[in-house]
Amino acid sequence: MIAIRPRRLRRTDVVRSLVRENRVHVDQLIAPIFVAERAEDAGPIASMPGVDRLTREATVREARELYELGIKSVLLFGIPAHKDARASSNYDPQGIVPQTIRALKAALPEMVIVADLCNCEYTDHGHCGILDAHGDVDNDATVALLVRTAAVYAEAGVDVVAPSDMMDGRVGAIRSALDARAFAGVAIMSYSAKYASAFYGPFREAAGATPQFGDRRSYQMDPSNAREALREIALDVEEGADIVMVKPGLPYLDVVRAARDNFDVPIAVYNVSGEYAMLKAAIAQGWIDGDRAVDEVLTSFVRAGADIVITYFAKEYARRHG
Ligand code: PBG
Repeated sequence: MIAIRPRRLRRTDVVRSLVRENRVHVDQLIAPIFVAERAEDAGPIASMPGVDRLTREATVREARELYELGIKSVLLFGIPAHKDARASSNYDPQGIVPQTIRALKAALPEMVIVADLCNCEYTDHGHCGILDAHGDVDNDATVALLVRTAAVYAEAGVDVVAPSDMMDGRVGAIRSALDARAFAGVAIMSYSAKYASAFYGPFREAAGATPQFGDRRSYQMDPSNAREALREIALDVEEGADIVMVKPGLPYLDVVRAARDNFDVPIAVYNVSGEYAMLKAAIAQGWIDGDRAVDEVLTSFVRAGADIVITYFAKEYARRHG
């Protein structure tokens, strides 16, 4: 009987890297950016140390820095000056996101600009869409708004729209509308399996998008469900999604793996604000080694099968590995 000794392949750095199964490349990372219309809304986000709300000008500077570090894709979230019940500043061609898209495209034409497509930052009640008479989010009225906004972002030059609202049928509606307006080249990265999660807490502080009443459980998914995620992804793929996403990341690695095993489109995972905050808090206390923990977390997404990782750690990862 020969002795099987797996430790032989762990002896040195070089041997370990020779047999390494997964690597996170900066090309796979997308950096989220919060862009504020009013200068007074820019500044640090207490629960997300190292992440700031930026003005449009600062966004262009940040994007250039990211690009030079090898992070060539950004995901934009707008913080508008004006909110109302119909999210009207979202589909205003002079709104903060279309303005920023134009500025980024002029400064960095090669950069991939992804725009989050949702209404929660733009409604005065903080829900992701139009409310009906009972205070429920009206699916089809909301889809109509998303379609309108997607066309405005496309007109501004966006490369990818990323609907994060979880309304039924929105991917198909957006695809048809974009195609009808000669924006067939604009891709859709759908937040397909987006769970009603506690881990979005810091984002809601960052984007000022906390529902004023109730919660998002009538549109975002129940954290207990995995089969339903595959069904949501299948629907989005059928409706024309180019990239599908699982969100949050760490508590849903099983869903990322299942998505990878069942679909052949690119899979994105969103390492969300609460995951970032949690790690940053422990790192600040000196309880865990930050560099190693971040690398381990980002690797877990790729190992689970993600092609694309959306993460607030993108810049620091690129600084260390770019
Ligand atoms: C908008 C949206 C949210 C996030 C991304 N897009 C918040 C939410 O749905 O409540 C969360 C991102 C993060 O937590 O980092 N609907």
